Amino acid sequence: MAGSVWRSMLSQVVVGAVRRPAVSAASFTRGMQTVTLIPGDGIGPEISSAVMKIFEAAKAPIRWEERNVTAIKGPGGRWMIPPDAKESMDRSKIGLKGPLKTPIAAGHPSMNLLLRKTFDLYANVRPCVSIEGYKTPYTDVNLVTIRENTEGEYSGIEHVIVDGVVQSIKLITEDASRRIAEYAFEYARNNQRTSVTAVHKANIMRMSDGLFLRKCREVAENYKDIKFTEMYLDTVCLNMVQDPTQFDVLVMPNLYGDILSDLCAGLIGGLGVTPSGNIGANGVAIFESVHGTAPDIAGLDMANPTALLLSAVMMLRHMGLHDYGNKIQTACFDTIRDKKVLTKDLGGNSKCSEFTAEICRRIQDMA
Ligand code: IPM
Ligand code: MN
Repeated sequence: MAGSVWRSMLSQVVVGAVRRPAVSAASFTRGMQTVTLIPGDGIGPEISSAVMKIFEAAKAPIRWEERNVTAIKGPGGRWMIPPDAKESMDRSKIGLKGPLKTPIAAGHPSMNLLLRKTFDLYANVRPCVSIEGYKTPYTDVNLVTIRENTEGEYSGIEHVIVDGVVQSIKLITEDASRRIAEYAFEYARNNQRTSVTAVHKANIMRMSDGLFLRKCREVAENYKDIKFTEMYLDTVCLNMVQDPTQFDVLVMPNLYGDILSDLCAGLIGGLGVTPSGNIGANGVAIFESVHGTAPDIAGLDMANPTALLLSAVMMLRHMGLHDYGNKIQTACFDTIRDKKVLTKDLGGNSKCSEFTAEICRRIQDMA
């Protein structure tokens, strides 16, 4: 009797001691941080479970809260994400997301976009760094695209003017331009990067890209330690495929970022190995793989979990869990460099589960 009272008091003390203040960026339970996991469609569940296995091997202090994201029609006919996914994200502040299928010009809007909008994830960050041992026509690529993620050509404002004539509005605001520029310079400073290039077409879209560029110039004034350059999007594309090593941090409006980030991913081996993070204010963020759902190989244990895993590594760093992130990244890159256990898309003939097990084995060997 006395013993059980004592134990319950003790557990209260222990739990109470590790509970962080409510203002913290993420929710904590017994030293564990909760992350909302959105496995996604197609190969999403397989690559998500690969990431969970690898996190377990690394003993990363993450508790997953799994939520499905499908399109729901709310009151007034507005599309929304399911309330239980929204509530989980509101609590955890941090999400990891596999691929979600996007319908083309029909039905509900892209869930990817709805998630970015719902949580005001205004910065999309995609580091493109050459992977040793994974040969592409390029070496030493080491750049980051930072894409405005909430407006521009993605504002979704379109209408028919008269039959056969439609108009699509590219919305650019001072506030969103300033905050993405500030994000890019802060990112450069905090990640030991030396230059920021604003990518634009202000020669053509004088007002919209003009405003974006003006805000970049203004913000650059406050970051004299970072070199600032501005370049036309088409010139960046040309120079990028000629010599990507001249680029460091690139900041740009939404659609340019969508296209240029794919181009840059291509330089290092494609979307299967490129991570992505969508960052909002106050620590809220969703990390994601940017490749498709690959329905043709779904459920066949053939998928490559690297993009989602490297996104999860970005997530760990965002949460301040650098040691876990470094450990997992090293094990992943060592596995790729070693070339013995690779999925088909990486040039090998191993299953997703074998590739995952190899990464886990390397992590366990490090301990
Ligand atoms: C991306 C994707 C999305 C986008 C799609 C899936 C809506 O291509 O994250 O880059 O266009 O932003
Ligand atoms: Mn894209």
